Amino acid sequence: MRSRMILLLIVSLIGFWSGLVSGEDAYMYYTWTVTYGTAAPLGVPQQVILINAQFPGPNLDCVTNDNIILTLINKLDQDFLLTWNGIKQRKNSWQDGVLGTNCPIPPNSSYTYKFQTKDQIGTYTYFPSTLMHRAAGGFGALNVYARSVIPVPYPTPDGDFTLLIGDWWYSSTHKALQLTLDSGMPLPYPEGILINGQNASTLSGHPGKTYMFRVSNVGLSTSFNWRIQGHQMKVVEVEGSHVIQNTYDSIDVHVGQSVTALVTLDQPPMDYRIVASTIFTDSPLLTATAILHYSNSQGIVADMPPGGGGGGDVEWSVEQARSFRWNLTANAARPNPQGSFHYGEINTTRTLLVANSAPVIEGKQRYAVNGVSYVNPDTPLKLADYLNISGVFRLDGAWEGELATAVVGTALHDFVEIVFQNHEDAIQTWHLDGYDFWVVGFGKGNWTESSREGYNLVDAFTRHTVQVYPKYWSAVLVWMDNQGMWNLRCSMWGRQYLGQQLYIRVYDPVHSLSNEYHMPTNALLCGRALP
Ligand SMILES: *[C@@H]1O[C@H](CO)[C@@H](O)[C@H](O)[C@H]1NC(C)=O
Ligand SMILES: *[C@@H]1O[C@H](CO)[C@@H](O)[C@H](O)[C@H]1NC(C)=O
Ligand SMILES: *[C@@H]1O[C@H](CO)[C@@H](O)[C@H](O)[C@H]1NC(C)=O
Ligand SMILES: *[C@@H]1O[C@H](CO)[C@@H](O)[C@H](O)[C@H]1NC(C)=O
Ligand SMILES: *[C@@H]1O[C@H](CO)[C@@H](O)[C@H](O)[C@H]1NC(C)=O
Ligand SMILES: *[C@@H]1O[C@H](CO)[C@@H](O)[C@H](O)[C@H]1NC(C)=O
Repeated sequence: MRSRMILLLIVSLIGFWSGLVSGEDAYMYYTWTVTYGTAAPLGVPQQVILINAQFPGPNLDCVTNDNIILTLINKLDQDFLLTWNGIKQRKNSWQDGVLGTNCPIPPNSSYTYKFQTKDQIGTYTYFPSTLMHRAAGGFGALNVYARSVIPVPYPTPDGDFTLLIGDWWYSSTHKALQLTLDSGMPLPYPEGILINGQNASTLSGHPGKTYMFRVSNVGLSTSFNWRIQGHQMKVVEVEGSHVIQNTYDSIDVHVGQSVTALVTLDQPPMDYRIVASTIFTDSPLLTATAILHYSNSQGIVADMPPGGGGGGDVEWSVEQARSFRWNLTANAARPNPQGSFHYGEINTTRTLLVANSAPVIEGKQRYAVNGVSYVNPDTPLKLADYLNISGVFRLDGAWEGELATAVVGTALHDFVEIVFQNHEDAIQTWHLDGYDFWVVGFGKGNWTESSREGYNLVDAFTRHTVQVYPKYWSAVLVWMDNQGMWNLRCSMWGRQYLGQQLYIRVYDPVHSLSNEYHMPTNALLCGRALP
């Protein structure tokens, strides 16, 4: 249960909060304790990571502009951090919860995150960013509801269902999976797929009512297609954008992505299967099911065949991806229509070509960005930057060797085109912290300057994670208006762990609190930042 507290004594808070929030916004206080526990999501008891004894973790339900004050107590035997996937942390990369911005929370210690869901609405997630913890749990839903004074472009749903779907392993712990990666082997193929931590959950609704389905891919490596037997899904929101409300029989969701759809219970009163199955893999199809139960159900409908949508057909999936477009007249978290920002008329300041690869370095499997495989520094980049500790990272141009702590430098307010080029046969998904970006194009083969002619410069929508199909490119535009140190990473966690990531430093030589907050007074220190 959430508690909402409006603090009236704002004045006394200004020092504590560095003056970063306005008085009307609610404060939400949480204490989350992370422990190991045992669960049997696929029938076999195994070690999992719990938050407040829950697997998956509790829903973090909040409203646009809420201030979240969340104390995370680490009772594991390893350092731990949570990151808030898609929360932009405006001026506040200090709270992003990745190893480039935060010292990890040691065992038996805690850290209090303080951040605001500033100008955001939509379906997001949180998950552990340390080691391979995410393979054992610790993830959950982060749903940001619109403020009551801001309209949403659809009737208020009669209820809300969260579906956290992801690939899963039961015969290896997160430590065993990490050892596999450390030894230079790729992540093994998953052994199952879970919906809300199991393979048999039931969602109950009333006939004739319309429910919001908030669906996220919380897995480590595998895209899925999901569908509801006999029902149509009307997609209304994708990662903070209100999209044109098309209806679909099934939807592809790639690792790290979220999609929100409305479903009306307009079929004969029965139990229907909600099915998620793996796509874009050569290996055997994995399927998970949940039940959509009508309150007046007369029984379960006959079995549904496996497979769905394009079953991993690239052209089918690209066509669906292109059908997600901004509703230009709809607003998002703020009252102005999305279309009032004419992103297509802005000249780009620079282009970043980002090509993934899977090199073998020093005899071990690694993953790389433009030939450089990222290694974590002993001191978070953000702390090193703020405290003027030199020698922690090098900006682009000065990287040496195949293993490096790679940071790309950009100026605050640059308008950047990022082209993700995938020469590999495997699908990729890329995520940028601190931002969302316009996904302006997908194309086959190698990107060239003439590929720009096919960009959607009118009604592309913004999201935080984009898929790149095998031997395809994806192009995005991003307005670098959020100063800080931001992780650009492959969302597929084995690849991220073995180096397919870097950081983007969005910098302005003028130090100003209106651009970026100071280091929080409770920041954990480690490495060369220790006094
Ligand atoms: C954490 O504290 C508990 C209880 O005091 C203790 O048993 C455990 O060894 C500690 N763990 C670590 C990693 O220090
Ligand atoms: C989940 O349950 C369905 C039957 O409802 C079964 O076909 C499928 O194999 C199960 N998946 C796993 C990973 O156990
Ligand atoms: C677009 O948003 C408007 C609200 O501004 C809404 O009335 C309309 O139905 C939406 N159109 C589509 C096609 O989703
Ligand atoms: C964009 O660049 C073109 C050509 O260099 C120039 O004519 C135009 O004024 C620029 N537009 C903006 C908004 O800066
Ligand atoms: C770091 O260096 C900058 C520029 O020289 C200076 O303004 C700032 O105060 C220094 N910060 C710290 C924490 O010493
Ligand atoms: C695409 O780029 C890759 C890497 O630069 C190159 O090896 C390949 O030949 C290119 N393919 C085509 C069709 O140009």
